[in-house]
Amino acid sequence: MTAKLNLANLIENVIRADVRAVGSYHVPDSVGYVKLDSMENPYQLPEELRAELGARLAEAALNRYPVPSYSTLKASICARLGVPDGYDVLLGNGSDELITILATAVARQERAAGSKRAVVMAPIPAFVMFARSAQFAGADFVGVPIRPDFSLDMPAMLAAIEEHKPSLLFLAYPNNPTGNLYDAADMVAIIEALGEHGIVVVDEAYQPFARVSFMERLPQHPNLVVMRTLSKLGLAGIRLGYMAAAAPLLEQFEKVRPPYNVNVLTQVAAEFALDHIDVLDRQAALLNDERTRLAAALAALPGVEVFPSAANFISLRVPDAERACANLHGAKVLIKNLSKMHTLLANCIRVTVSTPDENEQFLTALKKTL
Ligand SMILES: Cc1ncc(COP(=O)(O)O)c(C=O)c1O
Repeated sequence: MTAKLNLANLIENVIRADVRAVGSYHVPDSVGYVKLDSMENPYQLPEELRAELGARLAEAALNRYPVPSYSTLKASICARLGVPDGYDVLLGNGSDELITILATAVARQERAAGSKRAVVMAPIPAFVMFARSAQFAGADFVGVPIRPDFSLDMPAMLAAIEEHKPSLLFLAYPNNPTGNLYDAADMVAIIEALGEHGIVVVDEAYQPFARVSFMERLPQHPNLVVMRTLSKLGLAGIRLGYMAAAAPLLEQFEKVRPPYNVNVLTQVAAEFALDHIDVLDRQAALLNDERTRLAAALAALPGVEVFPSAANFISLRVPDAERACANLHGAKVLIKNLSKMHTLLANCIRVTVSTPDENEQFLTALKKTL
């Protein structure tokens, strides 16, 4: 009986058509490569801290579910990462999960007559999970192209807000994949244009490198959510994101959050890392110095256009991105080809800023392809 069952038919019968139609989020195999495609911090914690962390992790109560209030970790985040007084955070298994929680919370169902699907909006090109999470949550995604200099196209943004009335609007600050910071006054105009009709999420994944933030503006804008992650600061492996917003908003998002979404090992590791945040901050400062050096070296290459970056990566245009990526791959250096993401990014590639040695390997390999 079971043997006769045709799995293709089963999938056709039960899996959503839009899920069947999309490809998987592709993460290339990186074993043996210089990995410059995912904006990771190349530095680990120093040896003595790792030993201490090991001892702390050994004490973690793996036999118990996490305590879902996560009060100690949240208090440490609020105290050390600039969350304004009176504001709390909600934790996610990476900010990827927070994006999903946000999209799910706004994606109203079309049961009432005349009720439309919710719209999630972002300037594009943007972090791919904004559109993907909106789609899977059952909301419509509307992307508004930025200008060729990567700034916000304000007339287009305001017109799109007026037309589509988004429930949720993501602004990555700095933006991935372009690396630039949008103009803060433009962002405030968008937050004010949405007002009571939409939530603006300022995604500050790269804040440790940009050193600017909308966090302190939370009290002025009740429809603002500030989202961050520990990933780019050097803890991508533990998967921890957080978002701060007015308490009544967090209360709603809390209902969508799976109760034990942050595991005890992550909790212990994050608390430990936050006690040593100065170490991570110094690593970020080193990477910022390397960004300056790498950007200058790239700008000096013939036919290369380097875009300004406030993040731990640099986006650049080369004469032939396809060839550059293939040659770099051959030289065992992984970077990201942005060409297919958007017409604005034709022949653009993105490279994570890494150690002086790895940056040099990238530069040497890139020079050979030009
Ligand atoms: C703008 C932006 N937001 C969020 C994320 C996801 O970060 P996390 O590792 O916390 O899921 C990324 C990852 O690259 C990103 O670029």
